[in-house]
Amino acid sequence: MSEMLLSFNIFCIFLCTWSFVVTSKVNNINRPTVGIIRWDAWNLINGQYDAISYYFHRAMSPEHFHYRLPFFAKVNSDTNVTINGDMQEIMDQEIVYARYAGFDYWAFDTYCAFGSNCTTNSVYCTQYYNQTANRYCPQNPAYGLYRYLSSKYISFY
Ligand SMILES: *[C@@H]1O[C@H](CO)[C@@H](O)[C@H](O)[C@H]1NC(C)=O
Ligand SMILES: *[C@@H]1O[C@H](CO)[C@@H](O)[C@H](O)[C@H]1NC(C)=O
Ligand SMILES: *[C@@H]1O[C@H](CO)[C@@H](O)[C@H](O)[C@H]1NC(C)=O
Repeated sequence: MSEMLLSFNIFCIFLCTWSFVVTSKVNNINRPTVGIIRWDAWNLINGQYDAISYYFHRAMSPEHFHYRLPFFAKVNSDTNVTINGDMQEIMDQEIVYARYAGFDYWAFDTYCAFGSNCTTNSVYCTQYYNQTANRYCPQNPAYGLYRYLSSKYISFY
């Protein structure tokens, strides 16, 4: 994995987009529309991190950075954290927090999902793996989207 791909991923994790709404029919208050755009890579699969989640968890492990951990992270020691956001109750809580904070919308980045050992039946995904993804082959890159769609709080949005 290239450093560039890694930094790009870190940069993209919680990115808020701003666009100005001229008039809102609902409340007539001019304010930015603020959304959540996610590129999810805070997950374990069968107890293992995928490549990007592994680097995130490693980057956040030193005690110095623990104050920036998401609420669902577990601090095992001053140099060791566990991060797994792929749980329904965590997504439910994230939706409640987002609603309370006033976020207007959610969007999810995702890409090809692969089997273990980078297997895929799709020619497109094989090409993507070979040429674009720098041999990154996540097994569940859309876990956030799936958890969102199956949340009991989806009606909040
Ligand atoms: C971090 O802590 C977890 C949970 O106690 C443990 O399974 C894992 O081996 C530890 N990792 C390191 C690098 O010490
Ligand atoms: C994945 O590759 C490893 C090492 O080549 C092999 O031992 C394992 O059986 C493979 N797993 C699957 C599900 O193909
Ligand atoms: C992907 O790379 C493998 C190994 O380098 C090669 O065998 C395969 O033909 C490539 N597939 C595509 C679609 O580029």
